[in-house]
Amino acid sequence: MEKSQPKKVIRVKDLRKIYRIGDERVVALAKINLEILQGQICCIVGTSGSGKSTLLNQLAGLEKPTKGSVFIGRTKISSLSENRLAEFRQRHLGFIFQSYNLMPTMTALENVSLPLIFKGASRSRRKKAALSMLSAVGLKKRAFHKPTQMSGGQQQRVGIARAFVTRPKVIFADEPTGNLDTKTTSEVMKMMVRFARKHRQTLIIVTHDPELADYADRVITLIDGNITSDVSHTTIYDGTENCDKSSTDDKKDAVESEDLIEIPDSDSDIVLPKLMEDPPALPSDIDLPEETEIKGDSSL
Ligand SMILES: Nc1ncnc2c1ncn2[C@@H]1O[C@H](COP(=O)(O)OP(=O)(O)O)[C@@H](O)[C@H]1O
Ligand SMILES: [Mg+2]
Repeated sequence: MEKSQPKKVIRVKDLRKIYRIGDERVVALAKINLEILQGQICCIVGTSGSGKSTLLNQLAGLEKPTKGSVFIGRTKISSLSENRLAEFRQRHLGFIFQSYNLMPTMTALENVSLPLIFKGASRSRRKKAALSMLSAVGLKKRAFHKPTQMSGGQQQRVGIARAFVTRPKVIFADEPTGNLDTKTTSEVMKMMVRFARKHRQTLIIVTHDPELADYADRVITLIDGNITSDVSHTTIYDGTENCDKSSTDDKKDAVESEDLIEIPDSDSDIVLPKLMEDPPALPSDIDLPEETEIKGDSSL
């Protein structure tokens, strides 16, 4: 029986981005047309200055285009107000950064709980979901550590847990392994791909490292703000531990994360096997009111 066609999650039409500094004009993106499907793992590759981060920022609604449009689902994010965009990002998108961008005064648990506050989850659900996610990235024992007490690889795993904890439709990662060594890079890439595959989430990774393309379904190459190649290929790494990319070490990791728990769904009750001792309360001054519905994004 034929499978139904995957949905288009992102649509970009005639996107152009020009930066002006004084009299200087930099054409960061010339004219980009692009469609990305649900569940696709995409790498955007290119040398430094080719426009990768600019494209990612446009796709994620972090910057406004000079011309053209970007849709996520049915929502034209390139036309949303800043407030609406912020809400949209909190509801539907996840972000992973090169320098992790964790809150330095917060524990791993608090960092991972944070996006759930913006989604209006109760304190106990936040705690359960964040612990579950930390367990999924193999950091249950570090729940009460602060970023400075963790290695770069561990911090990025907290970053991954934070990005996936709300089960976003699309996860954006700009040079997520840029500060990591080769072995840790492979662990982090596998973890992101495995999580994304599990719930058919779309993952868009910007990198200057062509080797990371091995993890992707699709590789989009940029040169001077233009897409010069866009190749979909048979996936080399499929998110399971039975394929070429996994080493013995990784298998050990996989076992640890096998008794994990499902990636929590913030819209359903989360059942955890075991809870650790009671974590500290999250700061009360960052509690937000219930989220508001965004019109026009019903496809998401
Ligand atoms: N905020 C900005 N102001 C001015 N120029 C920018 C800005 N951001 C990026 N650029 C320029 O746009 C081009 C593309 O940059 P960028 O998207 O950061 O490239 P990459 O991520 O591939 O290294 C570069 O020439 C860069 O100098
Ligand atoms: Mg960049």
